[in-house]
Amino acid sequence: MNAPDRIEELLSATKDAFASGALVQLKLGGYHGDEPELKAVLVKKITTKAGEKYSFTWRYKTRDTIKNYSQSEALALLREGLKDAFRSAQLATTDFDMLFERNGEKMRLKRTDVEGREVPSTDHNRAKNRPLTETDKPWLKALGLAGKNGAIRHDAQDKFRQINKMVEIFAPLIQVIKAERPLIVDMGAGKGYLDFALYDYLATVAERPVRIVGVEMREQLVADGNATAKASGFAGLSFQSGTIMEFDATGADAVIALHACDTATDDAIFRGISAGAALIAVAPCCHKQIRRQMEAGQADARLEPLLRHGIFVERQAEMVTDTLRALLLELNGYKTKVFEFVSDAHTPKNNLIVAEKDGRAGRDREAVLKQITDIKTLFGIEQHYLEGLLGL
Ligand SMILES: C[S@@+](CC[C@H](N)C(=O)[O-])C[C@H]1O[C@@H](n2cnc3c(N)ncnc32)[C@H](O)[C@@H]1O
Repeated sequence: MNAPDRIEELLSATKDAFASGALVQLKLGGYHGDEPELKAVLVKKITTKAGEKYSFTWRYKTRDTIKNYSQSEALALLREGLKDAFRSAQLATTDFDMLFERNGEKMRLKRTDVEGREVPSTDHNRAKNRPLTETDKPWLKALGLAGKNGAIRHDAQDKFRQINKMVEIFAPLIQVIKAERPLIVDMGAGKGYLDFALYDYLATVAERPVRIVGVEMREQLVADGNATAKASGFAGLSFQSGTIMEFDATGADAVIALHACDTATDDAIFRGISAGAALIAVAPCCHKQIRRQMEAGQADARLEPLLRHGIFVERQAEMVTDTLRALLLELNGYKTKVFEFVSDAHTPKNNLIVAEKDGRAGRDREAVLKQITDIKTLFGIEQHYLEGLLGL
C-alpha cells in the first residue's frame, strides 16, 4: 500500500465507525501549522436538530473552539490536515484503536483491538461539546434571552452566541485550576450573564463543582441575580453588593472582570493579585486614566504625530494602559496573554488580558520595572492607577 492510502484507510475506518455508532473519538496531534497555540483537534459524533454531524473541537492552549460539519466537509478537512499540518492521529472506536503517524512522506498506521469499551452517547457528547445547548432555563428567561417557550429570542441570538463564546474561553481556564471547588469572583458583574452561563456549564454540564460570586455595586442587580440563582437551583452562585475595593477576595482562585469601567478593572486586578488568585482575567473597558495623562503633553516629542489625532490617542491609551497592566501582573508573578475574545463586530472593547500565576514570571524584577518606567517616560505618564494600588 503506498503512503497516501494510509490517510484514506484511517478516514474510511473513521467513517465506518461514525456510521455504526462505534466512534469514540479521533484526535489529531503533532500540529506544526500556522495557528499559534493550537494543540490538537478532537473529532466526535454528535446529534443535532439538523441530523448527525462531525463535531470538531480545536484545542488551543487556553481555550477550545467547536464547530460541527457534514461528513463530506469533515473528511475533506481531515484529509487536508493529515497531509500537512498534523503529524499524528489516534482513532478510538468501541472495537479497535488506530494510530497514524507521518514523518515527511512516510506514514504508518497501526491497529490494535480493544475490548469492553462502551458505545458513546452522542447526546452526552453534544452537551459537552456545545457549552449551552439547553435553553429552557429560568436564568435565560430572567435575563431576557429566552422567551416563555424556552427558545432563545430572535433579537437575543447574538448575545447568546457571545455568552457561549465566553464559556468556551473561560471554562478551560477554570478547569486547569487545581482547587477542588474553585472560588471565582466576578468583579462588576452587572446582570451576571457570564456568571450564570459559566456556573450552568461548569456545575451542570462539565460537572465541576465551583463557587461563583458576582460583585456589583448596583443593589437591584444583586437582588435580581440572587433571586434568579435561587430559582435556578444554583446553590454555588451568589451576588454581593458593594464596590470591588470593599470586597474581601481572600481565598479567590480566579478573579474576573468584564468591562468594569476604567480603573475598576485595576481594582479587580489588584484584588486578584492580593488574593494570590491562580487566574486573573479582565476585559478592560475605557482607558481614561492613562489617556488624560497622555493628553497632558508630557510625551516624548517624537510621538507627537502618533498622538495628534483623537482616535489614535484613544487607541494608544488602550494599548499603553493594558501593556502596563500586563507588565504589572508579570511583576507580581503572573504569566500574561492578551487576545481578542469576541469579534469586534459585537464590541470594540474586545481585548482580554489573561494572567495565570506562574513562579517563573517576573523573576527578573529589575528588567520588568525598567520596561514599565521606559513606557511611562515615553508617553509622559506619571503613574498608572494600578501602580498606586500596588504601592509602587
Ligand atoms: C459595563 S457593565 C459590565 C457588566 C458585566 N461584567 C458584563 O460584562 O455584562 C460594568 C458593571 O460594573 C459595575 N461596576 C463598575 N465599577 C464598579 C465598582 N468599582 N465596584 C463594583 N461594581 C462596579 C457597574 O455597576 C456595572 O454594572
